[in-house]
Amino acid sequence: MCGIVGYNGSSNAAEILLEGLSKLEYRGYDSAGLAVRSGTNDVVIVKAKGRLRVLAEKTNDGKALKGTLGIGHTRWATHGEPSENNAHPHVSDDRNVVGVHNGIIENYQELKEKLLRHDYTFYSNTDTEVAIKLIDYYMKKYKEGPIDSIARAMTRIKGSYALAVIFKDYPEEFYVARKDSPMVIGIAEGASFIASDVPAILKHTRNVYYIGNQQIARIGKGTVEFFDIDREPVELQMEEVTWDAEAAEKGGFEHFMIKEIHEQPKAVKDTLNAFIKDGRIDLSEAGLSDEYIASINNVTIVACGSAYHVGLAGQYVIEKLVRIPVRVDLASEFRYRDPILNADDLVIVISQSGETADSLAALRLAKERGVSTLGIVNVVGSSIAREADHVFYTLAGPEIAVATTKAYSAQLAVMYGLAVQFAKVRGQIDEETYAQLIAEMETLPKKMERVLEDKERIQWFAAKYSNAKDMFFIGRGIDYAISMEGSLKMKEISYVHSEAYAAGELKHGTISLVEDGTLVVGVCTQNSLYEKTRSNMAEVKTRGAYLMGLTSYGNYAIEDTADFTVYIPRTSEYFATTLAIIPLQLLGYYLSVARGLNVDKPRNLAKSVTVE
Ligand code: M6R
Repeated sequence: MCGIVGYNGSSNAAEILLEGLSKLEYRGYDSAGLAVRSGTNDVVIVKAKGRLRVLAEKTNDGKALKGTLGIGHTRWATHGEPSENNAHPHVSDDRNVVGVHNGIIENYQELKEKLLRHDYTFYSNTDTEVAIKLIDYYMKKYKEGPIDSIARAMTRIKGSYALAVIFKDYPEEFYVARKDSPMVIGIAEGASFIASDVPAILKHTRNVYYIGNQQIARIGKGTVEFFDIDREPVELQMEEVTWDAEAAEKGGFEHFMIKEIHEQPKAVKDTLNAFIKDGRIDLSEAGLSDEYIASINNVTIVACGSAYHVGLAGQYVIEKLVRIPVRVDLASEFRYRDPILNADDLVIVISQSGETADSLAALRLAKERGVSTLGIVNVVGSSIAREADHVFYTLAGPEIAVATTKAYSAQLAVMYGLAVQFAKVRGQIDEETYAQLIAEMETLPKKMERVLEDKERIQWFAAKYSNAKDMFFIGRGIDYAISMEGSLKMKEISYVHSEAYAAGELKHGTISLVEDGTLVVGVCTQNSLYEKTRSNMAEVKTRGAYLMGLTSYGNYAIEDTADFTVYIPRTSEYFATTLAIIPLQLLGYYLSVARGLNVDKPRNLAKSVTVE
């Protein structure tokens, strides 16, 4: 869960690498490092603990390092604490091999012992140092070149990796290899770029290759050759990135998160437009024919974090509308539970990055079991997108803030599309309801804009409660799913301890934590459950809680119970999550700002969790 970059051309590499790393800092930011070389000169390595700016200061923004070929890394620690010693790049004992790595090498202890027996020494606690030295070991043992040595190491390494490696005796090129960690290779006139994610190279080129799993590439100046693990050459198709680099910049907002919160109406609109054509839902781009939809008997949704919360909201909508059983599982649990799956099941994997290790493993497990899979993915060409049988792209554009907002909303839009179309195809709703639901979905972007117009009130409320220590989010049904996402937003960026509770469950234990001034947010968007949740809100109020109510315009009686109320426009109960989540995202955001925290890069987190 790190970011890697590489450059081979005729400009000063370090400046380009630092600029690329700045676009990847969301992937990890506890230390960073660069390795550059000029012709046959020795490789120069500079590392720094802390944010990328420390490395930039140390190298005068890269100007102090001379060389036209280089690799760089920004780290999110897995093996070994954040320190300069553990920062990448790592080198073999005689500096023959220098490399950076994103991923996790599961059998690194066993490999390390092997290398220790062959007199290698280790200066760091990282699995990466082991991988670099293993490549060096094979190079010396078999007296072969880089492709052979990397391929031999790959057959021994268990786990995930995107590796970029410089070899002392090959000054004109560097090498990359990947398995289960993302890597894109960009080609321009006389220069090549590699990165863990497209925004890091978009300034230089739109022509990219997505290197396949267990493939190796030789990166020249504006050239690239691919090989499989058997060292046979392979041909890959160059692709053109069509989205705008501007989309990955802050565009006048103070943080990426608030920019992305404001981009939600567009993300939802673009995503809906991709499958609503002439007032009807068309899922053919994802390869979901009516015959296939009619044959599905169970749906299992697997995901992590916020994507899991989309699954929970989706479960309510699909079960209510389609009347087929839906199970929602955390990917990290699903993959080890030996899940019961049948041939007529559909496994839906939801992921913004398309690279989350647990979600990818869950997808592979479902495929091994012969079950049909659908990926709902934001990053084009990511592993989940490539490996799922059917793919639905959310059109949220690049999401940079660690806390997801617009990808979450776009994923929800896809869930609505699936639910409504499944219900129609399977005869659960008539033509009139079908048309009404689609028309209502299309009103969501405008209604989202209305919710955003009310943001100052939330800002005021957040400033008032910026010292909150504990917070509870309660709701029933879909409102419980909304509460879970609201609570996650709060804790991940504001570091306020918060919990989401099914409102009716509170009195079975958790209510004992409520005392004078405890902040409780009651979510009440579902008409049939409104009064029930309101009475649960009254229960906590009697015990001293300060209550924020979140409901639809018209439900003004909530003000008898809540101390502060936020209203959202009326919509179908199935789609309320899309509107209700915005005030909760804003609450987390403004509380984080009021507390002076790093909103876009909260501590201990990374955007893309490519390790278990
Ligand atoms: O890329 P993915 O959607 O697979 O990521 C899943 C989670 O890691 C992600 O949603 C995480 O919970 C976010 N930080 C929440 O804001």
